[in-house]
Amino acid sequence: MLKIDELQVNYGGIEAVKGITFQVPEREIVTLIGANGAGKSTTLRAIAGLVKPAAGRIHLQGDDITALSPDRIVSKGITLVPEGRHVFPDLTVLENLKIGAYLRHDDLEDDIKWVYDLFPRLKERSWQAAGTLSGGEQQMLAVGRALMSRPKIMMMDEPSLGLAPLVVKGIFEIIKEINKQGVTILLIEQNANMALHIADTAYVLETGRLTISGSGRELLSNEAVKKAYLG
Ligand SMILES: Nc1ncnc2c1ncn2[C@@H]1O[C@H](COP(=O)(O)OP(=O)(O)OP(=O)(O)O)[C@@H](O)[C@H]1O
Ligand SMILES: [Mg+2]
Repeated sequence: MLKIDELQVNYGGIEAVKGITFQVPEREIVTLIGANGAGKSTTLRAIAGLVKPAAGRIHLQGDDITALSPDRIVSKGITLVPEGRHVFPDLTVLENLKIGAYLRHDDLEDDIKWVYDLFPRLKERSWQAAGTLSGGEQQMLAVGRALMSRPKIMMMDEPSLGLAPLVVKGIFEIIKEINKQGVTILLIEQNANMALHIADTAYVLETGRLTISGSGRELLSNEAVKKAYLG
């Protein structure tokens, strides 16, 4: 569904992503794992159109979407749940959800219901200011807001960051459920153990290059992966 060919991204003189090629098949959960600074966020930001690649192509269902504007990319069906959530703190939960649908002009009722069914906690807190939600609830809201664009592919940048283990478990359960409902997932994580457990396909990114790939299960039992990422 999503094809990344020889993607290269530079910041000034620094090559953050050095020509990576990988695919995200429809309805799969694909994960990129890697250490700090490996280029994981940069890869997602390039796909989302937030940074311009120096080289390479990105295709969605055969369409070249390389360097379309971020809005166009959302309209085509790719959404990003950014690292650190970035909810609008002074707006309510419901207002934040509606912002996720700002490119749509149809009825939102069904989708708000969909998000509230996935996250009953958000429904209870519909009128609460997003800035007063707990970290886990803000992550739920960030995911819910992304779903409001009705994505084909949801990209997630370290959803587990800073959350307690039990909350992380809940977030991963929800990712699986959203995937089961037909949304393709591209997940990046430092919590390699959790990510590999739910991934159909996984890649290791090391200083801007993909070094290892396989099924989630294969990488869980790969000695190099165990040593470097599964402590
Ligand atoms: N806006 C920027 N300007 C300059 N350099 C940047 C910028 N954003 C990222 N970089 C650099 O690009 C490299 C890759 O960063 P990136 O954020 O993609 O890594 P990451 O794998 O997401 O790391 P982390 O796990 O810490 O989030 C790093 O060396 C980083 O310092
Ligand atoms: Mg990052």
